[in-house]
Amino acid sequence: MIMKGKKGVILGVANEKSIAYGIAKACAEQGATIAFTYLNDALKKRVEPIAAEFGSSSLVYPCDVSKPEEIKTLKESLEKDLGEIDFIVHSIAFAPKDGLSGRFHNITKEAFDIAMDISVFSLIEVTRELKPLLSSNSSILTLTYYGGAKYIPNYNLMGVAKAALEMTTKYLAEDLGKEGIRVNAISAGPIKTLAAAGIGDFRFMLKWNEAHSPLKKNVSIEEVGNSGMYLLSNLSSAVTGEIHYVDSGYNIMGMPAVDFSGEKPTIAWNGTDK
Ligand SMILES: NC(=O)c1ccc[n+]([C@@H]2O[C@H](COP(=O)([O-])OP(=O)(O)OC[C@H]3O[C@@H](n4cnc5c(N)ncnc54)[C@H](O)[C@@H]3O)[C@@H](O)[C@H]2O)c1
Repeated sequence: MIMKGKKGVILGVANEKSIAYGIAKACAEQGATIAFTYLNDALKKRVEPIAAEFGSSSLVYPCDVSKPEEIKTLKESLEKDLGEIDFIVHSIAFAPKDGLSGRFHNITKEAFDIAMDISVFSLIEVTRELKPLLSSNSSILTLTYYGGAKYIPNYNLMGVAKAALEMTTKYLAEDLGKEGIRVNAISAGPIKTLAAAGIGDFRFMLKWNEAHSPLKKNVSIEEVGNSGMYLLSNLSSAVTGEIHYVDSGYNIMGMPAVDFSGEKPTIAWNGTDK
């Protein structure tokens, strides 16, 4: 039981398709005690049964990260119910729909501010508010995507937010390392979740990743969950500030693999349904 005796909070479960659910499952299977948060009353109904599944019925709290007072109240609740904690999972992102398709230069300041506040600044604010509860051997994990490192069609505003999130991970890692707090990010391959539904042509991204990744498959929330559990556990005690790709290796590809066996060179998949 790799996580036995570890206590932590997971922000970002919306349903059982959420990446945060995969991380919760992997951590619970390895003996962790997990507190959960939900965004609003509609999602509360979804998160409560999930918390119950992991023996955490009494550890479910509201937390809309755009409301600083809710983060403060979360800290008080966790302090009362769990005392010290060993890990935080930040699996949260949001951008208004018009920032996730269309021409990039049309992004509005309003959309930009919202995306950066919820998807980036919230990692800093949650870390700062919950820091007094963190043990001297603790781990923080956030979730990013390759669209923060390279251009990905339609990812637009979220790409800029993920770039900022990845640097936030590194600056936080340096800042908190002296106190025994590690901060890492997983860059997950595309997965069909609620958040992903907002990204234009997402099905194409899934097919492209499957066809052109070295492992020729998409990733599951269980696979991201297992890697997340490793980064939250003592197994990764010398790892911090890392952007760890869990994407079937897609990020190493500079060009799709080419089949030269026919009359003309062809790429593994030509953009139509298999
Ligand atoms: N699905 C993918 O393809 C993919 C790939 C790489 C990275 N990610 C990242 O993984 C993370 C989790 O996303 P997911 O794909 O599991 O989708 P999801 O919709 O299941 O999770 C997103 C979560 O963000 C929460 N959220 C949004 N606004 C919030 C706010 N103001 N306060 C608190 N919570 C808020 C939602 O309630 C939800 O639980 C995100 O950071 C996403 O960008 C997703």
